[in-house]
Amino acid sequence: MKTRVIIGAVLLSLTSIPLHASQVQAEKNGCMGCHFMDRQTVGPAIKQIALRYANQPNAAEKLYEKVRNGGGGPWHGAWTSVPMPPHADNIQPDTMKQIVDWMLQQK
Ligand code: HEC
Repeated sequence: MKTRVIIGAVLLSLTSIPLHASQVQAEKNGCMGCHFMDRQTVGPAIKQIALRYANQPNAAEKLYEKVRNGGGGPWHGAWTSVPMPPHADNIQPDTMKQIVDWMLQQK
């Protein structure tokens, strides 16, 4: 049983490209609960985020800070009044960066 899980994990890591791994991280860390791929729910759709920041050179850093510290932003009042929750305490910086980079590529 255990071996099968390990083999599965190895296969998964061999076949998955980094983008996919980031999506798994986004799911694992609860981002997808408020951010659907292409439909706004509690938070903006991931696609909406990618489009909004498409031409901003420092978008990745800016959004990384937002995910880290949380807070209301440009979407506030458009339809949502929920602030983005902070994640500094429960997600590693590297993982957070990967998720943000992945989100920005979902145009
Ligand atoms: C409880 C719901 C919720 C969860 C969970 C959540 N978000 Fe958000 N997120 C929001 C809301 C609401 C906004 C819009 C905030 C605003 O602009 O007022 C937002 C905004 C964002 C933005 C855009 C920020 C901006 O300034 O434009 C990014 C990027 C983002 N979230 C990433 C993430 C990531 C990554 C995760 C998982 C680690 C995550 N979110 C988890 C609700 C959530």
